[in-house]
Amino acid sequence: MPCSELYYQVCAIAEVAGFLWQRGWAERNGGNISVCVTDCISSSYKDRNPLKTVALPLTHPLTTIIGEYYYVTGTNRRMRDVAVNPMGNGAIIRVCKDGKSYDIIADEVIMPTSELVSHLEMHDFEQSNGRKQIKAVCHTHPTQLVALSHNPEMLKPDVMTRLLWSMIPETRVIVPHGIGIVPYRQPGTIELAAATIEQLAGHDVVLWEKHGCLAVGEDILETFDAIDTLAKSADIYLDCCTAGFKPQGIAPDMLEGLVELFHLN
Ligand code: 13P
Ligand code: ZN
Repeated sequence: MPCSELYYQVCAIAEVAGFLWQRGWAERNGGNISVCVTDCISSSYKDRNPLKTVALPLTHPLTTIIGEYYYVTGTNRRMRDVAVNPMGNGAIIRVCKDGKSYDIIADEVIMPTSELVSHLEMHDFEQSNGRKQIKAVCHTHPTQLVALSHNPEMLKPDVMTRLLWSMIPETRVIVPHGIGIVPYRQPGTIELAAATIEQLAGHDVVLWEKHGCLAVGEDILETFDAIDTLAKSADIYLDCCTAGFKPQGIAPDMLEGLVELFHLN
């Protein structure tokens, strides 16, 4: 595939980075993005020599994504800067044959996000499970979802999923497997990555308690849509609470059959 396809992907990343900033979910360097670009780059691009090779702090090697190429946002980079200059605030990396390291191949040595292990584990998990169409991971700090995660009641299994589904029918359709919860862990750790994978197994989006959330999707816009829809539901819930009443919510039986009806997934 020609490199114009890479240009298209990078433009979409910039567009979503702008959305994250505009939503107020990306304070300073908050959030990070990775997108598989293996199918978007030419063989001469793929053969580039590494600018730098870096070891990954993994307990076991990556298996399925060996040799794949990813655009990843740089650590400590502002999303609002990614929006205007994605290649100046991110890098193209290649997962090395050992499954325990990566090469930075373009455009310059910009060190990837501190959450790279979570991103790569998520890509590896999806590919290992036959979900070959999953190409993008987005991590961001949506205020309303993080706010809900400060309520211990919301952290019980499926409580937040059922609540958010019941606010508007779209949430049931666009996030059909709901939101998984990971108890608070130090950012950037392999423990956080491992706990994320456990939750990714049964959900579309994973919420890191008191921190932010991650979504996987076929492209970066799809990841944004899932988080945006959950955030809309959370806004409605919190607006009702602010207005002094608990929202009634759509009854579970009224939500049945919606996914099949809209054929979105
Ligand atoms: P990075 O700047 O390393 O991407 O970290 C941002 C973040 O959100 C950590 O969870
Ligand atoms: Zn974060």
